[in-house]
Amino acid sequence: MPEAPNPEASDAGTTAAPPRVFSGIQPTADSFHLGNYLGALRQWVAMQDTHEAFYCVVDLHAITVEQDPAQLRRRTKVAAAQLFAMGVDPARATVFVQSHVPEHAELAWILGCLTGFGEAGRMTQFKDKSSKQGTSGTSVGLFTYPILQAADILLYTPEPVAGRPLRVPVGEDQRQHLELTRTLAQRFNHRFGETFVLPDAHIPEGAAKITDLQEPAAKMSKSASSPQGIIDVLEEPGPMRKKIMRAVTDTGTEVVYDEEKKAGVTNLLRIYSALEGTSIPDLEARYKGSGYGQFKKDLAQVVLDTFTPIRERTLKLLDDEEHLERLLAQGAGRASEVAVRTMETVRERVGFVGRGR
Ligand code: TYM
Repeated sequence: MPEAPNPEASDAGTTAAPPRVFSGIQPTADSFHLGNYLGALRQWVAMQDTHEAFYCVVDLHAITVEQDPAQLRRRTKVAAAQLFAMGVDPARATVFVQSHVPEHAELAWILGCLTGFGEAGRMTQFKDKSSKQGTSGTSVGLFTYPILQAADILLYTPEPVAGRPLRVPVGEDQRQHLELTRTLAQRFNHRFGETFVLPDAHIPEGAAKITDLQEPAAKMSKSASSPQGIIDVLEEPGPMRKKIMRAVTDTGTEVVYDEEKKAGVTNLLRIYSALEGTSIPDLEARYKGSGYGQFKKDLAQVVLDTFTPIRERTLKLLDDEEHLERLLAQGAGRASEVAVRTMETVRERVGFVGRGR
């Protein structure tokens, strides 16, 4: 694949390989939402310019909770189309579907054998979800979800040559899974010899946790938010505007950042600032004395200006499914080249007998 220029290379003038970036997103909704976009996907687009990029639609993760097969297939394609529509460039970035590269599941098994039962049980996302669903409604797959995530990332570990990092752009809620990934990489390296580069979480300041428009203390979430609390990337302009106008604020009138006393306004300020690239103090100054109405109206316009072209491009891409499938097949081919090589090393280190040729 063509190598992107690497402005971060320490010794300019050499042909050092660029750092790698890997990230994933679940195809568990009909659209990505504003939290996904600001917490992760925007960084995916930006980082393809400076990194060798691998982006994955994680359908194996999606089935840790029950999915309708036809809907899962559809959502997987809609997910890929949105990534391309947002500006992920298939010529530069490798975009693929997780189940197309079976090495993900294989490495997850091996890493699972290095993970303590108690260690996996301490993952807060698992604790939250399983406490809502109860033990009988919780699959073993949900329990091992973070181990599969570690496998996703570590398969794309660069050759452990000095200083070529592996970065993982995610929202704040993924920090603990990234810590586990580092722990498992270290444990594997310690037991079987230097194999994996330890990945670094790349969590954006300011937009790492976008909250629910109706419950500003809770994360905006595909699974937990009410439709009124979530802004979908593919949402029609009318409902999108309404949701922002109806976002919960407080009984005051001042557009001021205050996480404790004004959680709703603070969330809207973060969204505005991240989308427009204006600092929060500048926004506070702009809306001094003007009340919440004008502020929300302008914010709705900024959100619409961002998402309308993405929506239009997504719908166009979905009109030609064959083309979309070809792009994903090409991505799976490139991802496999790396994943197969990593697994050859891993199998050999673990002590499996080679199959011969
Ligand atoms: P998923 O699909 O639940 O979320 C995708 C990305 O969106 C971020 N995110 C948010 N960021 C800010 N505010 C929010 N309200 C918000 N909601 C979601 C998530 O942090 C995530 O970055 N477990 C991963 C999927 C995964 C993965 C991986 C990620 C599987 N394998 C390997 C990185 C590397 C997840 O949460 O997906």
